[in-house]
Amino acid sequence: MTQVGIDRLRQRADYTHKYNVKTGRHGWLRLTPAYSVRIVEELMGRAEKPLRVLDPFCGTATTALCAAYHGHDAATTDINPFLIWFGQAKTARYSASVLERARRAGAEALGLAGRKGAEPGAPPPLHNIERWWSPAALEFLCRLRVALEATAAPGTAEGNLLRIAFCRTLIACSNAAFNHQSMSFKDGFQLALDIQPDFARMFRENTDFVLDGAAENPRGRAAILLHDARELSSLDREPFDLVVTSPPYANRMSYIRELRPYMYWLRFLVNGRDAGELDWLAIGGTWGVATSRLADWRPEGLAYSSPELEAILGRIASPRNTNGTLLAAYVRKYCVDMARHFAELRAVLAPGAKLHYIVGNSTFYGELLPVERIYAHMMEAAGLADVQIRAIRKRNSKKELVEFDVSARF
Ligand SMILES: C[S@@+](CC[C@H](N)C(=O)[O-])C[C@H]1O[C@@H](n2cnc3c(N)ncnc32)[C@H](O)[C@@H]1O
Repeated sequence: MTQVGIDRLRQRADYTHKYNVKTGRHGWLRLTPAYSVRIVEELMGRAEKPLRVLDPFCGTATTALCAAYHGHDAATTDINPFLIWFGQAKTARYSASVLERARRAGAEALGLAGRKGAEPGAPPPLHNIERWWSPAALEFLCRLRVALEATAAPGTAEGNLLRIAFCRTLIACSNAAFNHQSMSFKDGFQLALDIQPDFARMFRENTDFVLDGAAENPRGRAAILLHDARELSSLDREPFDLVVTSPPYANRMSYIRELRPYMYWLRFLVNGRDAGELDWLAIGGTWGVATSRLADWRPEGLAYSSPELEAILGRIASPRNTNGTLLAAYVRKYCVDMARHFAELRAVLAPGAKLHYIVGNSTFYGELLPVERIYAHMMEAAGLADVQIRAIRKRNSKKELVEFDVSARF
């Protein structure tokens, strides 16, 4: 294994989701842990022939869309059905007549939603929904959701595009603030500064933005698959030449928590219990039941260990640390899950395939978890060659939090 240093690293916003906001379809919806299309493009390079590209941790399908725009053939997996729906819509090809139908159905939906006496329908069963939206915003969203069901059926191409515009609108008119690592609420001062927005105009502008991106069709194909990255050997696809991915970090970030508003409004979630169940399937998930189950969790089958990891887990589990035992179990499960993923990966790689994993390290009670070295060790254990660790950016002002490209060859 070789390691390229972390001296003089910068935070590089161009390597984060912030870069994607203005880049057409890549800017459709934000997921804070999404990585930048720029980094993916750099790693994909200028291949002379179309490649078969895999991203086992799809998220918002950044890799798959980027690969398809470069004429490659991509496949990507995730365990979250909402992200699968979104990735399919984001990478699909749209004809001019679909775009025209979407434009008309959006305008009709706004007309229906604005009609006096129109039935608003019930709001989604999102906990403390009144913290998310003002009464006026909530009423508008409820009416628009019902109206969209009448003018653009779910599952149709135009229905998908308008639901993405709806998702953008529901976040734009919410009290959610995005100035932290994960979503939180605007404080009273910020709310007082916000004047009542024109919701219909917001939806119109978001529809225009989505339809502009939809007009830029990718040349290549992308398959967006509901599949667990720990079970890749059952994927049943032609072998891949390149893997570019950003897996979940060991930082207790819950994707379900981030995606809740979209998932409840689009009926991918109907209660908190299901949200916890889904996060238990996610590597590194900690939402609801996913945390309480950790206490009794024991590795089955392949169990990953190394002297370095055991020493770190021992320090995290120290009685000095409140919840230290639970967090040590969290880190152990994360490592076992990722080791299972790497062990399964071989089954879907073509000889000579290249791999790039963009991942950050983490700290627990001040104890640094060198995820990049753990990955490198797992890759070597899985029989991969030329394993390298390259530091690419500082994650925030904390000196020790860094993002790496851990690469290898099959
Ligand atoms: C860091 S995000 C990927 C972000 C993505 N690169 C993007 O640009 O949006 C990690 C993703 O891994 C998914 N994930 C977690 N556990 C998984 C598993 N067992 N199999 C497949 N995907 C999983 C999560 O749902 C999440 O979408």
